[in-house]
Amino acid sequence: MSDPLVRSKRRFAGVAVSATAAAVALGTVLSVSTTANAASTLGASAAATGRYFGTAVAAYKLSDTVYSGVLDREFNMITPENEMKWDATEPSQGQFSFTSADQIVAHAQAHGQRTRGHALAWHQQQPGWVASLSGTALRNAMINHITGVATHYKGKIYAWDVVNEAFSDNGDGSRRQSNLQATGNDWIEVAFQTAHAADPGAKLCYNDYNTDGVNAKSTGVYNMVKDFKARGVPIDCVGFQSHINSASPVTSDYQANLQRFADLGVDVQITELDIAGSGTAQADTYARVVQACLAVARCTGITVWGIRDSDSWRSGDTPLLFDNNGNPKAAYTSTLNALNAGGSSSPPTTGPTTGPSTSPPTTGPPTTGPPTTAPPTTAPPTTAPPQGGCSASVSVNQWNGGFVATVTVTAGSSAVNGWTVGVTLPSGAAVTSSWSATGSGTSGSISYSNVSYNGSLAAGRNTQFGFQGTGTGPSATPSCTAR
Ligand code: G3I
Repeated sequence: MSDPLVRSKRRFAGVAVSATAAAVALGTVLSVSTTANAASTLGASAAATGRYFGTAVAAYKLSDTVYSGVLDREFNMITPENEMKWDATEPSQGQFSFTSADQIVAHAQAHGQRTRGHALAWHQQQPGWVASLSGTALRNAMINHITGVATHYKGKIYAWDVVNEAFSDNGDGSRRQSNLQATGNDWIEVAFQTAHAADPGAKLCYNDYNTDGVNAKSTGVYNMVKDFKARGVPIDCVGFQSHINSASPVTSDYQANLQRFADLGVDVQITELDIAGSGTAQADTYARVVQACLAVARCTGITVWGIRDSDSWRSGDTPLLFDNNGNPKAAYTSTLNALNAGGSSSPPTTGPTTGPSTSPPTTGPPTTGPPTTAPPTTAPPTTAPPQGGCSASVSVNQWNGGFVATVTVTAGSSAVNGWTVGVTLPSGAAVTSSWSATGSGTSGSISYSNVSYNGSLAAGRNTQFGFQGTGTGPSATPSCTAR
């Protein structure tokens, strides 16, 4: 499995769809969507089984009448795509900024839509000031951030993605190395306890990608959720991003994976659905995902990650339900068709004003800092580490005017105890922020060195860091020097 940024660079294998096949598909849909009780919009159809159908929204697009027209006609749940992230809501420490996010919440309220909050704690999209913090100072900053944002939106959020993407893609179900992880392994439960204290009425979710089937990563999350439920940590739901393409297809155990989480006593939600492709193949895959959710009683809703293909973070994959002009695609019709076919059972009907289904923790919100022992997932060697080489690769999510780059650093045949990666940016490109590494500059040739928690890598193991910027992202394979 791979990072969504990696996957964004891959293109779904094109499927040639004949006019005949498309006509057959559409004919099938029409015969269903005109039956007596079929709803004619995604939101209304989902609501018929007690679910929601939502989309990610960018505040600056709300003035686009095509965009807002489709939004308000079809969707009854909204996730701010970027506006509630840490860099947007607390650009300077202790100085909160809610203008764009407030705009989205106000729009939702004015149009009878609910809001999913995204995301309170994440290793990406952190404001620059966070980079200088670690240990107790970072833990307290996270607690203050979650309290500030969740309090501002108290009573207005259906569900919060409290923690986003905290598990690694190593294939061993381990936590991702990050500055937040380095504050102590309990950072996730502290985040949930803090959010619960601030807004006890919101459902609190853990959200991740590459967890869409039964695999090592989803099992790592599963074990965490099971542990949280056993210990009364206030978790109510798990979000499955479901960024689908040929490298990350919908697996045969997609539904079973949702069900095993639901069986732990949490709701499950599909939170960032997009499916690379076109025509019948794409339409069929959308239908499969919808059918899987409808078959799981505690699957409470589906959110697609944007409205038109041109709104997508990976628009070249044409992964959404509406074309660039806002016209419904075959995937829209198959999705509506699947929703109208209904589910075998109804999900709980609890809404945003209903408290979490878990008991509140017996302890109050954390007031203390992190443990003094740092919990790196890679134990430091007890003897002098052998020298070993390393390699690096980069994947880039490019959009018009900017990019996010994710670099994977892999130790060679022996362990490394520190690394430096050389990246060359094209002329005109400039880094605006980075995470999990320290950079020597912002343009041209930049050396990125490990930070305290991710320098030690066992032989063959890897870690990731990233940066985002303006202009065109790097394309050449980065160099890597081990220490
Ligand atoms: O619009 C500004 C532009 O004015 C500016 O010049 C440029 C400079 O960096 O930034 C532009 O904003 C960028 C925005 O995408 C444009 O849509 C942000 O920097 C960039 O960070 C942002 O990327 C977002 C990405 O998360 C950040 O990692 C994507 O929009 C957003 O779709 C994506 O969403 C994530 C989820 O939050 C978590 N799961 C994966 C998913 C896809 O990566």
